Amino acid sequence: QVAAASGHTVVLVDQSDEILKKSTKGIEESLKRVTKKKFADKPEAGAEFIEKTLKNLTTSTDAVAVVHSTDLVIEAIVENMEVKNELFKRLDKFAPEYTIFASNTSSLQITELANSTTRQDRFGGLHFFNPVPMMKLVEVIRTPMTSQKTFESLMDFSKAVGKSPVSCKDTPGFIVNRLLVPYMMEAVRLFERGDASKEDIDVAMKLGAGYPMGPFELLDYVGLDTSKYIIDGWHSLEPNNPLFAPSPLLNKLVEEKKLGKKTGEGFYKYK
Ligand code: 3HC
Repeated sequence: QVAAASGHTVVLVDQSDEILKKSTKGIEESLKRVTKKKFADKPEAGAEFIEKTLKNLTTSTDAVAVVHSTDLVIEAIVENMEVKNELFKRLDKFAPEYTIFASNTSSLQITELANSTTRQDRFGGLHFFNPVPMMKLVEVIRTPMTSQKTFESLMDFSKAVGKSPVSCKDTPGFIVNRLLVPYMMEAVRLFERGDASKEDIDVAMKLGAGYPMGPFELLDYVGLDTSKYIIDGWHSLEPNNPLFAPSPLLNKLVEEKKLGKKTGEGFYKYK
């Protein structure tokens, strides 16, 4: 959405036409929200902006078939190293030499992903934040193999889509999640111990620390499955680090398919 809105030609790839239809609808709705703010007094310019943006966006269920004319691939699939590596390995065979590969992974090692391809110098992390149309940050991750040219291209692309990039080495969680995820997990542990209600913890962090959302609202917003993937991955890397300890409550909710806002229930109900 943000790439198309800033004039880039985008092919959105997913597993089925049904998912793509849902994604396109989500983008249309989000564009309406953006437009309502951005072109409050100029509805015609707003309608033109939406039309132009959607013109830049096509969809496909076949990544291999569309990668031949792509300058930049941004992968944002399931947080699973094997599945991601499999995709990158396949795309590497069909993408032109010049194509840069980037992952939007929240927590997996970019170096390991890059090693599944033959283009380690043209590989980096581009980590966006929910909701992407609103959050101004992008973390640009360089591995020891990322070339200076690739790094600069990723920084330039981030600016070209209207974001403010920061750079970080390939360390677990990069900057934001390294601080944010342990904080959210501490909130869950506080609640698990019965020290405070989740509602009070959320109110406390909003009114006491000025955060726009409380930790439970944010966990539901990000997705409990995504949060669990992140913490489980780090726990396996550092089993003795108490900040990375898994939470029985989070595990239970994920097992019950209560994944947050997207499924209608997580820590809170949304139906
Ligand atoms: N698309 C377009 N516009 C949107 C939007 C979306 N998806 N979501 C919100 N907006 C805009 C709209 O203009 C909306 O106005 P509208 O309601 O009239 O359409 C405006 O934001 C205000 O939204 P709300 O009134 O719903 O609520 P807020 O003022 O609280 O703002 C928020 C919403 C920007 C999401 C704010 O609550 C916030 O900043 N929350 C924290 C988000 C955060 O911490 N994100 C990082 C998560 S971590 C992550 O993503 C990393 C990953 O690896 C896990």
